Amino acid sequence: MSTTRTAIVTGAARGIGAETARRLAADGFAVAVLDLDESAGKPVVAEIETAGGRALAVGVDVADEQAVEAAVARVAAELGAPTVLVNNAGITRDNLLFKMTVAEWDSVLNVHLRGSFLMSRAVQKHMIEAKWGRIVNLSSTSALGNRGQANYSAAKAGLQGFTKTLAIELGKFGVTVNAVAPGFIETDMTAATAARVGVNFEDYRAAAAAQIPVQRIGQPADIANAVSFFVGAAAGFVSGQVLYVAGGPKD
Ligand code: NAI
Repeated sequence: MSTTRTAIVTGAARGIGAETARRLAADGFAVAVLDLDESAGKPVVAEIETAGGRALAVGVDVADEQAVEAAVARVAAELGAPTVLVNNAGITRDNLLFKMTVAEWDSVLNVHLRGSFLMSRAVQKHMIEAKWGRIVNLSSTSALGNRGQANYSAAKAGLQGFTKTLAIELGKFGVTVNAVAPGFIETDMTAATAARVGVNFEDYRAAAAAQIPVQRIGQPADIANAVSFFVGAAAGFVSGQVLYVAGGPKD
């Protein structure tokens, strides 16, 4: 068996996914940077390579079954059989229930839930062959309910059930499956939310920080650190868990 393990991070061209890709590369993994456009992932790949790591940018829509199968096959051929998967790709299409369109509902459910299902199904065979694997799903504090996010909160709560079921099914193959549920993290996603509600991002961040027990908003590295723990050798007996990384308690 090769000594370098291969990890896939979806939605890794920016934000939490990009930071997680850089962190897993620093942890010693070869990292496949998956995102909608291959070109968008290339700067992250270049950073990883400059730091001495191995990485590959692959364009894929995680909600597209054929594209997912092709992307995972390409990663296996060009980087090595993937045994770590971080299902991070995500979108928001916020609206109050009475205004939410079917397209807004479907697109959010498709990227988060169908995407995580398709990616996990495609990657599990490599994990089972290796008798070792790690899946980390990105949930959210919105899983507990959040105004204007019926679609997103349903998807993020769904991912928690998905996480627990995969943990039960895949445990006997040496595969652990966990979820990280971030609170407010400073990324393009939260900047877009501020723009949508018509608040300057600086004021929006400050207002959010004031509501958080540790009195600051989160950074992508806060989430990458939690993913790194779940993926690491020390977490082999931790499975089916949801870790809220939100600067305070959530339940
Ligand atoms: P972001 O919007 O900055 O980045 C998301 C990335 O996913 C983008 O590069 C985008 O191109 C990619 N993506 C979107 N749809 C895709 C698809 N169908 N196939 C492949 N790639 C796709 O978002 P951010 O903030 O980095 O979020 C990452 C994850 O963390 C998401 O799952 C999000 O729901 C979750 N999260 C974020 C929080 C935050 O405060 N930023 C809080 C809780 C959860």
